[in-house]
Amino acid sequence: MADSSQMLANILEQPIVADRCLALDLSPPSIADIRQITFAACGTSRHAALVGRFWWQQFLDLPIGVADAADWQPMGIGANHLVYLLSQSGQTRDVMDVATAARSATLWGMTNGSATALHQATRYMLQTPAGEEKAVAATKTFLSQLLLLLRLGMKLADHAIDLAAIPAQIQTTLNRADRPCQIVAKALAADNRVILLGAGINTPIALEGALKLKETAYLHAEGLASGDFMHGPIAIVEPGFPVITIAIPDDPNYTKTIAQAQRVKSYGAYLVGITPVDAPDVGIFDVVLPIAPVTALLSPLLTVLPLQLLAYYTAQAKGLNIDAPRNLTKFIG
Ligand code: G6P
Repeated sequence: MADSSQMLANILEQPIVADRCLALDLSPPSIADIRQITFAACGTSRHAALVGRFWWQQFLDLPIGVADAADWQPMGIGANHLVYLLSQSGQTRDVMDVATAARSATLWGMTNGSATALHQATRYMLQTPAGEEKAVAATKTFLSQLLLLLRLGMKLADHAIDLAAIPAQIQTTLNRADRPCQIVAKALAADNRVILLGAGINTPIALEGALKLKETAYLHAEGLASGDFMHGPIAIVEPGFPVITIAIPDDPNYTKTIAQAQRVKSYGAYLVGITPVDAPDVGIFDVVLPIAPVTALLSPLLTVLPLQLLAYYTAQAKGLNIDAPRNLTKFIG
């Protein structure tokens, strides 16, 4: 895996970054007066918010939404509405515009920077301990956002899940998925299109995988909920069409997801699975990008990893400038 790319270095650093996220001290203010929570973010940070909402909904008895900060709709807001702004840079203009529009709400923030505009605007700030992320495409900052959202949700709800094995599971996944990701990357680099399917908590990971493949490898990549894909978009599948399915055995959607993947395969798709090595249905996939065994609830911390590697290797196979893709900046100020 020797390469001077910052993106690859950022991806491979994630076991250590996870250790730092698990060690961070969290002391959030009380949310006893909060009646509603809205996350607002753009791009990769919005995908982290979508996974975070899924977790918080398991733990907290409050209505929780996710807004696209770039498409913020004015709403009646007061101090018992928590608006949680996520931005790895802490400087995205669209996110700061929400901070202004929603200033009468209780504003919390999460960023990877220090002393950012977001620090100024928010009452409670968590700083992700990812270290500087030089590559434009966010990888280790995304993982950090996920881990801190998970830990914060657990803390707010006084709900404990043992996360101690996560850094080792991340390392195992990075090791095992590396070779198969290189194989699939060659196919994607030649084809330039791909559909990514997830279910439940992994639907945002399908969106994030598609974004990574667009940002770094310029693929026409679309992420969808596996169930929704059946309602029209499946017409796009023809022999050889690349489809990547995330399938986690203890997810309530697992049986349906596998049935949907089998149908896609029957239409001739080149079917790639992101699934634990010990999953019962690995045989249906043309290639498996294996992750370490994991529960569905914690699986987004692992399922995103092969997609990051895949984006990296596909961009490499196309000979692109991986760390500084065309038309993009690290954030839009
Ligand atoms: C830009 C970048 C994306 C990033 C988004 C949000 O569009 O190209 O990769 O996810 O900004 O950035 P933020 O710093 O607010 O998380």
